[in-house]
Amino acid sequence: MSNRKMITAALPYANGPVHIGHLAGVYIPADVYARFQRRLGKDVAFICGSDEHGIPITIRAKKEGVTPQDIVDKYHEVIKKSFSDLGISFDEYSRTTSKNHYETSQDFFKVLHEKGKFTEEVSEQYFDEQAGEFLADRYIVGTCPNCGNENAYGDQCEKCGSTLSPSELINPKSMLSGNIPILKETKNWYLPLNDYEDFLNEWIIEGHKDDWKPNVYGQVKSWLNDGLKPRAMTRDLNWGVPVPLPDAEGKVLYVWFDAPIGYISFTKEWAEKNGKNWKDYWQNENSDLVHFIGKDNIVFHCIIFPAMMKAHGDYIMPKNVPAFEFLNLENDKISTSRNWAVWAHEYIEDFPGQQDVLRYALLSSAPETKDNNFTWKDFQTKNNSELVGIFGNFINRVAVLIHKYYDGIIPQGDVNAPELKEINKSAKEISGFLENYEFRNSLTALMNLARFGNQYLQTEEPWKTIKDNPEKAAQSLFVGAQIAVALAQLCEPFMPFSSEKLLNMLNVNKTDWSTIETKSVLIETGHKINEASLLFSKIEDDVIEAQIQKLENTKQNNKKTNPNANPMKEEITFDDFTKIDLRTATIVEAEKVEKADKLLKLTVDTGVDVRTVVSGIAESFTPEEVVGKQVMILLNLAPRKIRGIESQGMLLLTTKPDGKLSFVTPDDNNVENGIEIG
Ligand code: 2FM
Ligand code: ZN
Repeated sequence: MSNRKMITAALPYANGPVHIGHLAGVYIPADVYARFQRRLGKDVAFICGSDEHGIPITIRAKKEGVTPQDIVDKYHEVIKKSFSDLGISFDEYSRTTSKNHYETSQDFFKVLHEKGKFTEEVSEQYFDEQAGEFLADRYIVGTCPNCGNENAYGDQCEKCGSTLSPSELINPKSMLSGNIPILKETKNWYLPLNDYEDFLNEWIIEGHKDDWKPNVYGQVKSWLNDGLKPRAMTRDLNWGVPVPLPDAEGKVLYVWFDAPIGYISFTKEWAEKNGKNWKDYWQNENSDLVHFIGKDNIVFHCIIFPAMMKAHGDYIMPKNVPAFEFLNLENDKISTSRNWAVWAHEYIEDFPGQQDVLRYALLSSAPETKDNNFTWKDFQTKNNSELVGIFGNFINRVAVLIHKYYDGIIPQGDVNAPELKEINKSAKEISGFLENYEFRNSLTALMNLARFGNQYLQTEEPWKTIKDNPEKAAQSLFVGAQIAVALAQLCEPFMPFSSEKLLNMLNVNKTDWSTIETKSVLIETGHKINEASLLFSKIEDDVIEAQIQKLENTKQNNKKTNPNANPMKEEITFDDFTKIDLRTATIVEAEKVEKADKLLKLTVDTGVDVRTVVSGIAESFTPEEVVGKQVMILLNLAPRKIRGIESQGMLLLTTKPDGKLSFVTPDDNNVENGIEIG
């Protein structure tokens, strides 16, 4: 096992605040692991930062009517503060819009390019004519060819987890305008992932069968079984790290190319500030690289980033990629767009000084092997029954009784008492679980030590023996004090704020984990402790009810608005509107267009003239169904040729929940043709 630990936590997109799903599934476990490794005396670099490129950022910017830079500036600060408030102990939390990151990711790209690791391919990509932009990744939605989910993205279906390319989507639609995109040629640089199949098979499938989590191993295996394809590492977008080649104007690095390199750039920043050499962490076999991620990031961290590092040639491979499943909230999927979340910054406001309660509750329901659920009731029980009732109660009894009977001075006791072995056993148990990324089990082992302490006091009853057997009472509280110190030390990775408070209360310093695994006495007879104070306090029903009500309000609001609705388009003036000539009209003839499944050729009486309109409605209507229908037409749209037929205008249509189209028609069917709408 190496002495150096290079620990990364997935870079959150700076397009919104962080919520409990992020915390439970990545950041809190990663922090526990990093803190634990530090306590083992390892040379730890725990690195993260904001992911500030990619479509999630530009989509948010469009929605809020501001620039992408405004968005990342705002959310980078919000996210960074939440992490720091919750005690996530990153050694560096930087951002991918930094100059250093641009240089690092561009250099990485150039190395691969110079080594001939990319292929250049001209392909047809979807293009939104109205927005004048290519539609990469999440700029395009459509039906997933694998599971039929109608809201699959151009890069991934969140329902079945398959990765997609825009061309695979059925009925693709632009996220920018809602329009059906056209295909347009463009050149991009691809990494032929298929060239790395043998390497990945040997490294992961043969090498990590037993030490990687089954969910991670299984996903990688199924990817490799399906066969890998070349994947574009550049995009036609105007937000991102520019491709550092002369013939690549208007192109940026694929966000999943630049983001993981962020781990490296940020390590460089940290190393520079701290007199370290970043290469010791990334390019030296004596370093353990561990990526903490959510399950939707597995392919990027186990296949694409390793292939990039392999292609580069100088980098080590991750030792492990502990990926977590998802956390639900009150039995419903956490969703940013539906505001179905407990936001970190709001929790901090609503529960001041209670960061450890959230850390504890989230760790004990961490979605380690399957999706898990967070409920406010459960949160309350965990606090009131476990933290207050077991942990806090034990500590309080020990501290209060030592003050009451011995003026706060640790009494005389037998250093060979058998109960003291329980401390060493617990410390070993907790570290065994943590080394294995079993966070829930490790937390249970910690609580079991507190339970043991409580039961011990309950059996010993020093408040009774103090009267007729003071030696026994002293022995009980001597042992109790040792357990209290052990808990103060061992709880630090999980509950750092309470650990600090408790160490202060007991008047002891942090020690190495090995001390607690081996020593029988952690606090000496004669040592004076400080005043007892409460570590945790009861959370009342009304506080929990208020949180549940907040979610109920969200539910009601969501019923009023459609979360799937596209964002509003750019504002227009009234003058712009008056340029649009909308009229009532009637379809008088209809026929299918040859070799075009979606199109009908319609003859329309517009009241002004009779004209031809080609409309993509053939999958929703037969020609017979539409003849005689009163419709609304955009009359002054410039004519365009569709399948060789000149289409003179556009009919107004909307989409029903089943995906079929329906005409926008006048309320009263007896309106004359040619009447203006406005
Ligand atoms: O899924 C996400 O939220 C990404 N922003 C994670 C990036 S992790 C890394 F590779 F940078
Ligand atoms: Zn799917």
